[in-house]
Amino acid sequence: PKKVRIHHFREMKQRGEKITMLTAYDFPTAKAFDAAGVDMLLVGDSMGDNVMGYDSTVPLTIDEMIPYTRSVARAAERAFVVADLPFGTYEVSPEQAVESSIRMIKATGASAVKFEGGRRIARQVKAVTDAGIPFCGHLGFTPQSETALGGRRIQGRGEHGVEELVADALALQEAGAFAVVLEMVIAPAARAVTQALDIPTIGIGAGPDTDGQVLVWLDAAGVGDWHPRFSKQFGAVGQALHDAAAGYVAEVKSVAFPAAEHTFES
Ligand code: KIV
Ligand code: NA
Repeated sequence: PKKVRIHHFREMKQRGEKITMLTAYDFPTAKAFDAAGVDMLLVGDSMGDNVMGYDSTVPLTIDEMIPYTRSVARAAERAFVVADLPFGTYEVSPEQAVESSIRMIKATGASAVKFEGGRRIARQVKAVTDAGIPFCGHLGFTPQSETALGGRRIQGRGEHGVEELVADALALQEAGAFAVVLEMVIAPAARAVTQALDIPTIGIGAGPDTDGQVLVWLDAAGVGDWHPRFSKQFGAVGQALHDAAAGYVAEVKSVAFPAAEHTFES
């Protein structure tokens, strides 16, 4: 398959073809999503809750992310691989952001980094893109600052909500971002940002008018029991995993497995 490259995303926006992104955290899932035609694989810091079992994304470190990100990059034959920078690895200075980005890219083979914020991190974004590293933005609800935002709240509401989002998105584009994720924002705000930008927007809980969509793969595949309104279960993988494990347990206990066809007699 022909590799998805950075210029394809702007071309897709221009011709109105929706961009697809799913998170992936390991080799087998990344292989499946790549083969299914997902354009972008995101090794999100959502692996903090979804893979490591933390209460939030905040405790996750680059050291923890690197081996997972490398396995995703190795699996992707076609998809463009983006790695999140976790909380605490880019906020301090442009230098810190460049060092963390270089570290992530060198150690993993991911094609781009993503981190959260708008005008407040524009200097970091400029430094990272000046270093030759593709950057994807993340605006709206930003889980790394959930406490400061007062919880999981829909963004873009209020008198200046749309203006503020547009100003942040334009700052990211100006600093060299190739795309911007919009998380949990009202649809009119997502539409305004999408129209204001030349680079594509990728929405999650941002309505149908963004240039692409992203979901956490466990939510999209129906693993676990968290069903946010903005997500949709396209499969019942949690049930399928449970059934496979339960079937295995039952057949080992009853000595139905292994049967003759699984057995070497000589
Ligand atoms: O970490 C993540 O999964 C994300 C997506 C929700 C965009 O940042
Ligand atoms: Na994230």
